[in-house]
Amino acid sequence: MYTLGEFIIENRDRFLYSTEELLRLFSSIKLAAKAINKEVNKAGLTEKIIGSSGITNIQGENQQKLDDFAHRVFIESFKSRNVVCGIASEESKDFIVIVEKGEKENPKYIVLIDPLDGSSNIDVNVSIGTIFSVYIRRTPIPMDLTIEDFLQKGNKQILAGYIIYGSSTILVYTTGNGVHGFTLDPSIGTFYLSHPNLRFPEIERIYSINEGNYAKFPNGIKKFIKYCQEKKENRPYTARYIGSLVGDFHRNMIQGGIYIYPKTEHSPEGKLRLLYECNPMAFLTEQAGGKASDGKKRILDIKPLNLHQRTPFICGPVRMVSKLEEFMDR
Ligand code: AHG
Ligand code: MN
Ligand code: MN
Repeated sequence: MYTLGEFIIENRDRFLYSTEELLRLFSSIKLAAKAINKEVNKAGLTEKIIGSSGITNIQGENQQKLDDFAHRVFIESFKSRNVVCGIASEESKDFIVIVEKGEKENPKYIVLIDPLDGSSNIDVNVSIGTIFSVYIRRTPIPMDLTIEDFLQKGNKQILAGYIIYGSSTILVYTTGNGVHGFTLDPSIGTFYLSHPNLRFPEIERIYSINEGNYAKFPNGIKKFIKYCQEKKENRPYTARYIGSLVGDFHRNMIQGGIYIYPKTEHSPEGKLRLLYECNPMAFLTEQAGGKASDGKKRILDIKPLNLHQRTPFICGPVRMVSKLEEFMDR
């Protein structure tokens, strides 16, 4: 049974960049994931972790203690490995420079991260996750990083993935050579290959959307929901919605389903963040044989204009997403 490290070394010829650097990136990610996993598992036991931190984050959302903890753990973990030069996080207004100018070694990787996804589920024992994404800096070394290093199109990602802290803890990633999942054996702290070559199945089974917002959805989305519920061909689909993108995505990729977070009357850009949530999930979606769209365009081709930009987000099996796009056109 391969460990994550062994799998990366075994597949070194398929990665375009340095395998040694990829291993160091994963060394940071694994360490932070294990630290968060440990806290998540005792969330119900300690006041330190459950509940709100009393702070409103840059998204205007109530920050949970675990959001802040996860953010700090990831920053520290990347700092200590000298492989990342800058990080942008959902929990921080501006990007964070990890290696200052003049330092001897100048790493070239940029990380974008949603340290804790699904925060509203922390206190109620439902799956949550971390979403990460890696790019190569645009500004040449040793110049200072600029915002343009972070505002790259999703199609420039060299690595993306998530960790789901669920009934087991699983790390799923892609470097552009398929999607692979590794399950944490908590007794020895090692991630083992458990889900090689994940792909959306042929079968269309599930639709995932917060239907409580139905009245505020655009007409195309309302019509698509009715289409999902129609008794015809392989429908109705079953409805499943956790409220943690990571959890909803993971289930849909394994069981065959579409995830939808559309714009609404009050949020014309939708809710999910292009850089921290949609781009990494779109990269994974395409690598798993699916399609990711804002309802009209490919997510990975959107030019980001600011760090915390939001976008409507739809991902899943190609046929289901294309069908939804047809309804958006009408
Ligand atoms: P986060 O916890 O990082 O702010 O993300 C929450 C997101 C996403 O995970 C989830 O799919 C969505 O918000 C749920 O939103 P609604 O509660 O509006 O359905
Ligand atoms: Mn999130
Ligand atoms: Mn978050």
